[in-house]
Amino acid sequence: MAIVSDHPSSHRSSSDPARRPGEEEILDWLQEDRPERLELLWRQADRVRHQNVGDAVHLRGLIEISNHCTRRCAYCGVRAPNRRARRYRMTPQQILECVHLAVERGFGTVVLQSGEDPRHTGGWVADLVGRIKGETPLAVTLSLGERTAEDLVLWRQAGADRYLLRFETSNRELYDRVHPPAKGTVSDRIALLRLLREIGYEVGSGIMIGLWGQSWQDLATDIALFAKLDLDMIGLGPYIPHPDTPMAQHPDRYRLPPERQVPADELTTHKALALARILCPEVNIPATTAMTTINPEQGLELALSRGANVFMPNLTPDDHRARYTIYPSKTSLVHRDEESYHHLQHRLQALGREVGAGRGDSVRYSRRHP
Ligand code: 5AD
Repeated sequence: MAIVSDHPSSHRSSSDPARRPGEEEILDWLQEDRPERLELLWRQADRVRHQNVGDAVHLRGLIEISNHCTRRCAYCGVRAPNRRARRYRMTPQQILECVHLAVERGFGTVVLQSGEDPRHTGGWVADLVGRIKGETPLAVTLSLGERTAEDLVLWRQAGADRYLLRFETSNRELYDRVHPPAKGTVSDRIALLRLLREIGYEVGSGIMIGLWGQSWQDLATDIALFAKLDLDMIGLGPYIPHPDTPMAQHPDRYRLPPERQVPADELTTHKALALARILCPEVNIPATTAMTTINPEQGLELALSRGANVFMPNLTPDDHRARYTIYPSKTSLVHRDEESYHHLQHRLQALGREVGAGRGDSVRYSRRHP
């Protein structure tokens, strides 16, 4: 089964595993460098996006509610041992103020994201979710890291709709090396993703592209895993080294020889994006902050033309946003002010795309829950 078909109108069924392209074909496309071939890949991804999820770009108001984190991920700037990170935690009042801004702007969803913050107890988050669901019509997406089954169930009962947890890499050995588990636990994000599905969440996952130690084969396996997990949402972006992390400080310990190491560049990110769209036609895929950070001028347009159908304007108040430095020079195209939102609307219109109405649930999820 070819990833790029010669027959533009042929329709692929993602639910038929026998017709799913294998890792070898994914690998070939990842390493493809001929511009005319890549043009076919971009066109196929754009066509699959248009046919399956349409032309609407769903907006999610992103609120980075805390940068406290107990974990020690080798790549991440807010890892616990980083003394230089200036920590903050938003109050429920501050968060609700941002939530109401999302309603005012007409967004259908808010995403609450944070490090693994021990002060965010099960009850604290459940209260917050309950208040948001009580006061607004918004869908609530949580992105709060690896949490206990008990917490995840509690939050779903409080009304949370979706959960984002990237598995970061399918290579278990690499995962363990860059991602030490919390004391006394085993970190198994794949198992957590299955649990999230059972609990009834709309489930999102994803990876970093070009994480040091990631081989081409690893990346092909990552992309095949998206389809196997039958995700509702897929988020990906280039790895961006943060100077206050072990990975950036000791490149030799992490990087593979150049011919094996996946580059953390825009082209490779777009190949992964396009392949994710073609393999998982009905999922929601955002143009992520990391994608627009490495290309502030055209990153949004390119991502939306190569498979993406979601964007997450950052509604975090400026002083907090500046401290949510999982990687450096993190730029947000759209902030809280009305002007930057209008600018976004113009950019979408210029692309021939419209702002999505309603919650923007994933077509994949809706099909599973008719
Ligand atoms: N560069 C790019 N992405 C990063 N993330 C964390 N640190 C970095 C970095 N240095 C991503 C991870 C995480 C998500 C919230 O941000 O994939 O899941």
